[in-house]
Amino acid sequence: MKDLVFDLIESEKKRQSEGLELIPSENYVSKDVLLAMGSVLTNKYSEGYPSFEGIPGWKEDKIAEEILPNYRYYGGQDNVDRIERLAIDRACRLFHADHANVQPHSGAQANNAVYFAWLEPGDTVLGMSLPAGGHLTHGAKVTMSAHVYNFIGYGVTNDGDIDYDELERLALEHLPKLILVGYSAFMKIPDFARVAKIREKVAEKAGYEVLLMADMAHVAGLIAAGVHPNPLDFGFDLMTTTTHKTLRGPRGGLILTKGNVASPLKKPEKTLANLPILIDRAVFPGTQGGPLEHVIAAKAVAFGEALKPEFKTYAENIVKNAKALADSLKENGFILQGGGTENHLILVNVKDSFGFDGKIYEKALDMVGLTLNANSLPHDKGAAFRPSGVRLGTPAITTRGLGIKEMQEIAKYMKQVAKICVKAETEESLNKYSDELGAIRQSVRDLALKFPVPSL
Ligand SMILES: Cc1ncc(COP(=O)(O)O)c(C=O)c1O
Repeated sequence: MKDLVFDLIESEKKRQSEGLELIPSENYVSKDVLLAMGSVLTNKYSEGYPSFEGIPGWKEDKIAEEILPNYRYYGGQDNVDRIERLAIDRACRLFHADHANVQPHSGAQANNAVYFAWLEPGDTVLGMSLPAGGHLTHGAKVTMSAHVYNFIGYGVTNDGDIDYDELERLALEHLPKLILVGYSAFMKIPDFARVAKIREKVAEKAGYEVLLMADMAHVAGLIAAGVHPNPLDFGFDLMTTTTHKTLRGPRGGLILTKGNVASPLKKPEKTLANLPILIDRAVFPGTQGGPLEHVIAAKAVAFGEALKPEFKTYAENIVKNAKALADSLKENGFILQGGGTENHLILVNVKDSFGFDGKIYEKALDMVGLTLNANSLPHDKGAAFRPSGVRLGTPAITTRGLGIKEMQEIAKYMKQVAKICVKAETEESLNKYSDELGAIRQSVRDLALKFPVPSL
């Protein structure tokens, strides 16, 4: 008998193709990425790393051909080594890095490995606070790293930009060992050069090296395509990212570094120049066991796709669509945090726009096949589970080929659903409006089915 799981996968395929994915951290991978992920590579244990001394500058076919020594703890690695080398080489080319560690199982694992590589327990980290738009892994109290390290948070200004003056003041006051620029709900392009200058001042005052880290989990695809500045081009030492958001690869993490690349077997001195080795040792054996080579293969495929000219067009369209959606939402009476967007992400203040909270709106939109998430706003007065905003974005719908005209349609449906939420007042009462919601659901379904999900 077929496992029940497969029926549920079929249901999920239907949900994905008949609805529109507006969660800004999600995307639809290609058939090739899915194929690599579902391959026999999942059978292999490969603790350790391939050696890639001498590789930089090689053409891909040579990387795929040459069998070289490795730093692995198991036999049978010839194919896996070459696949992981391809992933590393492509990642370095995409992001102008000296070294890439492609093994982190997720963005959270990548960030934890960086902290472990560079910090001692009790050391101070300065990053964007969670309420301002930062991520849980940047020191939220509920995380393990917040128990080990001392996180200080900077905020955003009323117009939604990083409060650089506050960042500088806090940096010079607390002399952090690590300064972090990264976020999950921030719509501007950071001034990386300005933060790099602040780092220099801190290092000079403190008399020690300060690691400058960017967590570009959200905008990595835009950076890879050259439609968003790359922190590694502006004096940052290291960048972490997820591989599954705008980068459109499998779920996973990635750490990119500047510095000297060498064998991970010997413990190096803790210096910025040695970051590549420190990171390799911190990922394995520091914080993870065996790498997921099927996922690494899928990362390699996704990086290959991102190196193609079509990906640049895709990334440009993500931003164009986000701006068009933001404009249409504003025309329909939605108040946007920061007034709009410079990337793929939009944060709507539904409380000030219509008087209800993000949770009821998330539920009502789910009922019509528009998927997004309730999200806190900076200085939100709502409870954590009743935030005043919703967060949405355009990476997934742009992959399906929706354009400016469809952004206007989506904004129109969102307005119709908002009007129903005003009448319903509570989530429980939404069912009273099932006819109206059902009609919008049908329009969303019709729209979605015109733009098939690539891998289905
Ligand atoms: C900025 C940032 N960092 C890290 C992560 C964590 O990634 P993952 O969910 O893969 O652990 C996220 C995910 O939302 C993120 O937005």
